[in-house]
Amino acid sequence: MSHLFVATRSSTDLGYLLQHGDFRMHPPIQQITIAQALHQARLDVAATDARMLLQSVLSVGHAHLIAHSNQELTLEQAQKFYLLTSHRANGEPIAYLVGKREFYSLNFKVTPAVLIPRPETELLVDLALERIFSDRPCKVLDLGTGSGAVAIAIAKRRPLASIVAVDSSVDAIVIARINAEYLDVANVHIVASDWFDGVAGEEFDLIVSNPPYVADGDPHLDQGDLRFEPRMALTAGGDGLDCIRSIITSATTHLVAGGWLLLEHGYDQAEVCCQLLREAGFSGVFSRPDLAGVMRISGGKRGNFSP
Ligand SMILES: C[S@@+](CC[C@H](N)C(=O)[O-])C[C@H]1O[C@@H](n2cnc3c(N)ncnc32)[C@H](O)[C@@H]1O
Repeated sequence: MSHLFVATRSSTDLGYLLQHGDFRMHPPIQQITIAQALHQARLDVAATDARMLLQSVLSVGHAHLIAHSNQELTLEQAQKFYLLTSHRANGEPIAYLVGKREFYSLNFKVTPAVLIPRPETELLVDLALERIFSDRPCKVLDLGTGSGAVAIAIAKRRPLASIVAVDSSVDAIVIARINAEYLDVANVHIVASDWFDGVAGEEFDLIVSNPPYVADGDPHLDQGDLRFEPRMALTAGGDGLDCIRSIITSATTHLVAGGWLLLEHGYDQAEVCCQLLREAGFSGVFSRPDLAGVMRISGGKRGNFSP
């Protein structure tokens, strides 16, 4: 049982509660200070999580918590904090509870409608930027944009590039558009589309994707953050390769000659990805490891050009 005297609720209820400030169902809590709130919360959640949740509730930075440890929380702040702590104790991802996640040094809004951007996906952005000249226009397609993290990170670093970002989830599209506006990028066009359907007849200099690549029934789906993330952002058939196969097959007709396709994939999918790319006629096929040493991104160039 939680040490924080709050009932547990679903994420959907949480969004409602935070929006409407309706905490009446919770027992009243005595006034407590920042230091006391953190101390109690640490009985249920990790210290860093407690800190991040309280910073979010108070809209302050870490330094404020230290400098004002005797500051009393209002009743509403205390109840909000306890509610969030209780959800965290139930395993809900910290990013969904605070509503944001940093990716490529940018702050993205995230909700349970989108995958939480992962640090390893920054490699996809690095490899994309290596292939986009900063002094000339370039057409880029991001397939399965989710929060818009990859497309927007590229757009920020390459203002002359024109990026189309697609996703088949209408809820994800809403979040990606909010992020594009909040992060002030004008060179990303966000489109609701089943992979290439929304870009029929269009060709790109570069296609990037972090598609769903977890096998249906993979036990990891029942662990950690994955339990709370949208299934359609994660799974792709019995071997996890359905989306990757489909993207590789169609990409050739949407790339200019010499254009690159870059794909993120699972830790054990590099070899099969490279094989699929070669079979589809890509040249310069390669894989790159992420910072953990796991082969994470594979790619190839359309046509018989040297890499
Ligand atoms: C692994 S998530 C990647 C999200 C984001 N690009 C990132 O790296 O954080 C995969 C995304 O593909 C989207 N998706 C799944 N099936 C799709 C389809 N048929 N067409 C377009 N997008 C799809 C999901 O909604 C999800 O947002």
